[in-house]
Amino acid sequence: MRVTIAKDYDEMSLWAGNYVARRIIDFKPTAEKPLVLGCPTGSSPIGLYKRLIELNKKGVLSFQNVITFNMDEYVGLPESHPESYHSFMFTNFFNHIDIKRENIHILNGNAPDLNAECKHYEEMIVAAGGIDLFMGGIGEDGHIAFNEPGSSLGSRTRIKTLTSNTILANSRFFDNDINKVPKQALTVGVQTVMDAREVLILCNGPKKARALHHAIENGVNHMWTVSALQMHPHGIIACDEEACNELKISTYQYFKDKQSIEGILGRYTEMFK
Ligand code: GLP
Repeated sequence: MRVTIAKDYDEMSLWAGNYVARRIIDFKPTAEKPLVLGCPTGSSPIGLYKRLIELNKKGVLSFQNVITFNMDEYVGLPESHPESYHSFMFTNFFNHIDIKRENIHILNGNAPDLNAECKHYEEMIVAAGGIDLFMGGIGEDGHIAFNEPGSSLGSRTRIKTLTSNTILANSRFFDNDINKVPKQALTVGVQTVMDAREVLILCNGPKKARALHHAIENGVNHMWTVSALQMHPHGIIACDEEACNELKISTYQYFKDKQSIEGILGRYTEMFK
């Protein structure tokens, strides 16, 4: 696993945005061979999206031949609700880039048959050739997408009931009222994410420190579903200093030494100036 430690949220976002941009540019996507991107919601990826939008507007990066699959969506929340993940994605990303509407895929949490919706989503990912780069965040309890503690690490897209911790954490988007937070979501599975050819997870702020510790320093465990990344041949965690608060000094120091020797952080933060 590669871990990059940026000094703060802005540097992490710049690094991750440039990294994703570089991946897309180097891939040279065409209509016949598009690049397939997995997309998260939440506060963590907002800075990354801002950077991708900026590079798109500068003409450095195009999304004309990029296909996206979002990680998850609430069940029963109208798409037009400001806190639906549909709204989030269009407001924070899709409305500002040159992506084609037909290349955007987001689970429909209002589908008449939710199980069929999930099955169809997996089929569409396969039909698109699989996901090249899945971006993601981490819940405070270590969940990836909405794969709550105890989720099968072999899971695929399905309905998930949210834990009270997640409902509480996400109530900040619903007037701090837990009763307004949907209790279920459709989510890609841990295995769906792990099937991607590359996975990039963002992790920032002190509230994520415990999750980062479990993701990196403890074993693969379904109680911290992001820890499945340890089994991925191309897993990256981009974090900031505050998220490292619970790492052992030796772990922290190793990743810092590694990034200074290999110049990983600088190589991407300096890009596209
Ligand atoms: C939600 C999403 C996750 C996200 C997590 C963290 O539960 N389903 O995909 O990673 O929130 O959100 P934030 O980035 O706002 O901390």
